[in-house]
Amino acid sequence: MYICLEGIDGSGKSTQIELLEKWLITMGYKTFKISEPTKSEIGGLIRKMLRSPNASEKTFQMTLALLFAADRMVLREKIQNAESEGKIVISDRCFYSSIVYQNDGDWIFQLNKHVKIPDLTILLDLEIETALERCEGKDHFENKVFLEKIRKKYLKLAEDKGFYVLNAENGVNKTLYDIKRIISPKLGICI
Ligand code: TYD
Repeated sequence: MYICLEGIDGSGKSTQIELLEKWLITMGYKTFKISEPTKSEIGGLIRKMLRSPNASEKTFQMTLALLFAADRMVLREKIQNAESEGKIVISDRCFYSSIVYQNDGDWIFQLNKHVKIPDLTILLDLEIETALERCEGKDHFENKVFLEKIRKKYLKLAEDKGFYVLNAENGVNKTLYDIKRIISPKLGICI
């Protein structure tokens, strides 16, 4: 199974991925954890670019979209290998982030035509104010107007693609519990 957590910056994906992995391991599962951008050379370049002041330019975002798609292609084989070893793949973001952040509809879908699509995506949704408090001053994407737009796009995509949407305002433990409640029936286990 390939599980992805999506959400705006500050929604708590990284924390939840860590906790989710620990829980899956205690339940006896083998896991493979991913985070996009990855730790590959392409991922490193992306992280550098994300700090650039040109980030709002269209061509800059298109370049980022190409790099994110390339970064994901590096992951494709790794995900396949992990799955064939019986591991549960858990991912902090996936190509849905490009749909929402790089925002060039059909072109982004085309670019990501060959990447692995999660079996289960959970959107951690929260108010922008809370998100901003959590990630103050990290990078250019973190401003109110921009994040409002991103949040709306996520909610629309969630409807179109059938993601689970969780309220991520209620603290780490409650959110983790809600994530477990979604995943456990798919694995046939009780929490
Ligand atoms: P983020 O999850 O914030 O990573 P970290 O906490 O390690 O900095 O991701 C970095 C940024 O990358 C985030 O602002 C969203 C952006 N992003 C895109 O614009 N497109 C994508 O396809 C992905 C995966 C991320």
